[in-house]
Amino acid sequence: MSDIEARLQELRESGLYRRMRHVSGPQGSRVVLDGRPVLLLCSNNYLGLADHPRVREAAADAAMRWGAGAGASRLVSGTMTVHRRLEEALAAFKGTESAVLFGSGYLANLGVIGAVAKLAAAGAVAGPPVVFSDELNHASLIDGCRLARAETFVYDHCDVEHLAWGLRQHGGRPGLIVTDSVFSMDGDVAPLEELVELARGHGVRTVVDEAHGTGCLGPGGRGAVAEAGLEGEVDVVVGTLGKALGAYGAFAACSAAMRDYLTNTARSLIFSTALPPPAVAAALAALEVLQEHPEMVDKLQANAGVMRDELAREGFEVAGSCTQIVPLVVGDADLAMQVCEQAIEAGVFAQAIRPPTVPAGTSRLRLALMATHTRDELRAAARTLGRAALQAGFRPGAGVPLAAAQPAGHPDERLPAPLAGDDAAAAAA
Ligand SMILES: Cc1ncc(COP(=O)(O)O)c(C=O)c1O
Repeated sequence: MSDIEARLQELRESGLYRRMRHVSGPQGSRVVLDGRPVLLLCSNNYLGLADHPRVREAAADAAMRWGAGAGASRLVSGTMTVHRRLEEALAAFKGTESAVLFGSGYLANLGVIGAVAKLAAAGAVAGPPVVFSDELNHASLIDGCRLARAETFVYDHCDVEHLAWGLRQHGGRPGLIVTDSVFSMDGDVAPLEELVELARGHGVRTVVDEAHGTGCLGPGGRGAVAEAGLEGEVDVVVGTLGKALGAYGAFAACSAAMRDYLTNTARSLIFSTALPPPAVAAALAALEVLQEHPEMVDKLQANAGVMRDELAREGFEVAGSCTQIVPLVVGDADLAMQVCEQAIEAGVFAQAIRPPTVPAGTSRLRLALMATHTRDELRAAARTLGRAALQAGFRPGAGVPLAAAQPAGHPDERLPAPLAGDDAAAAAA
């Protein structure tokens, strides 16, 4: 057996083997999955904009007008009209002076964290910079911390006391606090006001990833930062174009000076081909549709409320979520997969999420609501999920409560490796 086969076998035996399922047609609320019609309950196409006629048309028109690709990094072959237009629209939407596009949310987080950490390091007299990172941050933020080669202090999930302690421990050192706004696998929201206040008090910067907040929360879908009244108060807000905005790519919304700095130093922006015009034009059209129809955001959150109520009626624990992301925590990876497969057979697709995406022992079905789901669809889906769980041998509500399931430290896969032997390593252990 080759080393590749051996590793794949290991993954199969531990219930962690992954395969891509085949979806026919666009990411609508109903799709055909591996030949079977299902209700799609795990796509981040939250507002249904990925297959909105105006968004599709904008992408098609842009392909005809500007071509299929951007040709090179914008710093090499020049920025295109459509990139500029979208950046201006995003800055206005997010209430910041400026915005700059990145190839994807993953690339944005890698580039932004590295650049902002380097900024903190420049001229620092109180020691090297520290990145303060929530333990349940998205993998792209974690990888951003790793690539920044800065010391990382991982604080307990949403625990401002722990973060405050960490900031005191590293007293006076420059740095930044990085957090998801809406946690992608849990559906809860970071305590943004407290984080910004702590950052101010300790003279560190803030980077907030609004991948699941943009288009979903706050006034007109402007995000959790806007909902908390913090527009213009966060150093860099990262948003993605591939989720609620239905296209592909990402952006950093920030001051004009920060934009200029990122353009000069964020390696994932400098050394990567610019977004293709059809994706940019699609995002621009999606943003226009959202601004014309802010009621889509209300519908999304109303649907999330309906789903949580219906799931609670089935006995599921859903109290941790307050957004369009609703986790049904099962615990064991194999069991979570079995619940997922039973639900698919009954016509509901909610992908099981297993380690290393979530901490060991907290495998779950991650439900993602869409504004285009109907209430009847959601009521029926909750019943289907309840039955699927029982058929798979899992009693709804018997999952490990999230807080209890988090290991005392952090699973290696999720822990940004501290590069120096330091207090942070001890604190995070
Ligand atoms: C919180 C968060 N940030 C960033 C990303 C990465 O965004 P993208 O898919 O555009 O690379 C994701 C993707 O799922 C995410 O959930």
